[in-house]
Amino acid sequence: MKQRTLLPTFSSFYSFPLVIRSYIIIFFLLLTRITLCSVNPKFQACEPKTCGGDTNHQNISFPFYIISKQNSYCGVPDFGLTCSHDGFPIVNISGALYTVQNIFYNNQSLRVSIPALSGLRTTECIAPLRNFTGHSKRFIVASKQKQVLLFYGCENMQEHSIGCSAENRTRSVVALYGDDVENLKLATKNYRGTVSVTRVEDEKGGVEEALRRGFLMNWTAKNCSECSSSGGRCGFDEEEYTFRCYCPDRIDSESCYSQPGNGWTRQKKVLQQLQ
Ligand SMILES: *[C@@H]1O[C@H](CO)[C@@H](O)[C@H](O)[C@H]1NC(C)=O
Ligand SMILES: *[C@@H]1O[C@H](CO)[C@@H](O)[C@H](O)[C@H]1NC(C)=O
Ligand SMILES: *[C@@H]1O[C@H](CO)[C@@H](O)[C@H](O)[C@H]1NC(C)=O
Ligand SMILES: *[C@@H]1O[C@H](CO)[C@@H](O)[C@H](O)[C@H]1NC(C)=O
Ligand SMILES: *[C@@H]1O[C@H](CO)[C@@H](O)[C@H](O)[C@H]1NC(C)=O
Ligand SMILES: *[C@@H]1O[C@H](CO)[C@@H](O)[C@H](O)[C@H]1NC(C)=O
Ligand SMILES: *[C@@H]1O[C@H](CO)[C@@H](O)[C@H](O)[C@H]1NC(C)=O
Repeated sequence: MKQRTLLPTFSSFYSFPLVIRSYIIIFFLLLTRITLCSVNPKFQACEPKTCGGDTNHQNISFPFYIISKQNSYCGVPDFGLTCSHDGFPIVNISGALYTVQNIFYNNQSLRVSIPALSGLRTTECIAPLRNFTGHSKRFIVASKQKQVLLFYGCENMQEHSIGCSAENRTRSVVALYGDDVENLKLATKNYRGTVSVTRVEDEKGGVEEALRRGFLMNWTAKNCSECSSSGGRCGFDEEEYTFRCYCPDRIDSESCYSQPGNGWTRQKKVLQQLQ
């Protein structure tokens, strides 16, 4: 107890009236509390990280976290990302892996593509995809995403081919939009193998380019904006299974504004809201 050893060095301390002495003691107690709590290691640990090879070096932060680079308390359990060998973040949604192209923290959505169709390894033949289920507890396909059907083992229709089929390398994989009725009829007669279904955000630049860009999904997790605008970093307590706001000096359940009796930070919040 530092203050006990410090206080007697005030030679005139015991000559102060009791009330003043109490104030001095309270002051020292507060000072030690502040210095003891001034560093929150979880705040530092949850600094945003990148996978590295991502062309736009997207910063990964709550509810996402990179399993190999960040602690799991920095994100929500289903939002753990891995990094591909070429440095793109990979998300696991209900056991299917997707390349993360872009995360939009502002409206809680992300654009993902199927690794085999991301144009990263165009020399490889395309193996049948798992049919896309469309949702999990945390992720749901955003509205207005277009359906694309992939027909494996086609011989004709080369103008719609996106590559060779891993099922039979001399045959191709044909990709068609779900509303391309005429070509769908042709492909249905032509293919020898599997059909799988996926989504794309839009038709800009043709189906191959659209598959590379991928489609949008919305995610569901606690909105981080109040915690982050108060200077904190969002996180998750796995034992309590609940949201946490890691402030530079402490852990809060909501944001770094809400420390009881701290009028200054509340004033700052009011000022920020007025701006
Ligand atoms: C990611 O974060 C770093 C450090 O905070 C910053 O310098 C960089 O501009 C950020 N990158 C993007 C794409 O926002
Ligand atoms: C995806 O996550 C599930 C659990 O949610 C796990 O069982 C599976 O192994 C993961 N898949 C990969 C390839 O990491
Ligand atoms: C998160 O909260 C902020 C402020 O409360 C709000 O402006 C924003 O629209 C919310 N974001 C989402 C995705 O709901
Ligand atoms: C979220 O916002 C981004 C731009 O910031 C936009 O491109 C994207 O379409 C939006 N997501 C959804 C699901 O509307
Ligand atoms: C996804 O989010 C966007 C923008 O936030 C919203 O307009 C849209 O209705 C959502 N779609 C689904 C399927 O939840
Ligand atoms: C692969 O396709 C070629 C050309 O259509 C065909 O001759 C061959 O029998 C097929 N191979 C298998 C294993 O189905
Ligand atoms: C995927 O869905 C299509 C159309 O619904 C179906 O014909 C096909 O058998 C499914 N493929 C797999 C691999 O489940």
